[in-house]
Amino acid sequence: MQLKNATVLITGANRGIGLAFAREALARGARKVYAGARDPASVTLPGVEAIKLDVTRDDDVAAAAERARDVTLVINNAGIADFGGFLAKDSIASARRHLETNLIGSLRVAQAFAPALAANGGGALLNVLSIASWINRPSLGVYGMSKSAAWALTNGLRHELREQGTQVLALHMGFVDTDLTRELDAPKLSPDEVVKQAFDALEAGAKEVLADALTRQVKQGLSAEQASYLQA
Ligand SMILES: NC(=O)c1ccc[n+]([C@@H]2O[C@H](COP(=O)([O-])OP(=O)(O)OC[C@H]3O[C@@H](n4cnc5c(N)ncnc54)[C@H](OP(=O)(O)O)[C@@H]3O)[C@@H](O)[C@H]2O)c1
Repeated sequence: MQLKNATVLITGANRGIGLAFAREALARGARKVYAGARDPASVTLPGVEAIKLDVTRDDDVAAAAERARDVTLVINNAGIADFGGFLAKDSIASARRHLETNLIGSLRVAQAFAPALAANGGGALLNVLSIASWINRPSLGVYGMSKSAAWALTNGLRHELREQGTQVLALHMGFVDTDLTRELDAPKLSPDEVVKQAFDALEAGAKEVLADALTRQVKQGLSAEQASYLQA
């Protein structure tokens, strides 16, 4: 899948990694970029078409799919991450919120846009996942659960969309410097470098991109005797 002349729809494109995707898509010659946002007025990047899109709302997603029927690349980027583990008092409400946005939101978008991708020759679906798909730490336990589930969703969709020729790419990475990690004092990747790697992988026909050394190490460690997810 090439970005040149692509028609791209990005969820959560008003800030953070989604905004970096929008900017890089334009830089690589996309014909049109639909910048999805809960509040379209928060989209300020010149050259994109703002589109109201709350991924938890069936009506928003259906309306966006109707409007963006020319789409050839859909990027499931919108996500939330609240700090907290499974034994915290509010973890059940938090789990519902995370699953509704990070899992069901991506499913809702994939389901709604799959027919347009098929009609436009297959195209691609890029799901933004995380190193937390594979390791679960108390500070981001509930978030990790939602990303593990979204990884399974991505793997399943890849099989289901194969017949219509849609490339499905999973993007996994550690901390990225956005509002989501503002309170964390840790090394962070820049959104631009993550997005460049993701688009390079997409254009090379890849199914998965691991954007940093730690993520590659964790993935490789899944089958080690002391598996990465078992380590304290
Ligand atoms: N930052 C990291 O360290 C990191 C690492 C690995 C993976 N990721 C993943 O990367 C993606 C983007 O994260 P980010 O770091 O760019 O976070 P961010 O700066 O907090 O931005 C999150 C984006 O998602 C949007 N969003 C949240 N709920 C939504 C909903 N229901 N419908 C539509 N949009 C919604 C937000 O819109 P509003 O402005 O309306 O809130 C915002 O545009 C997420 O999937 C996240 O899990 C991030």
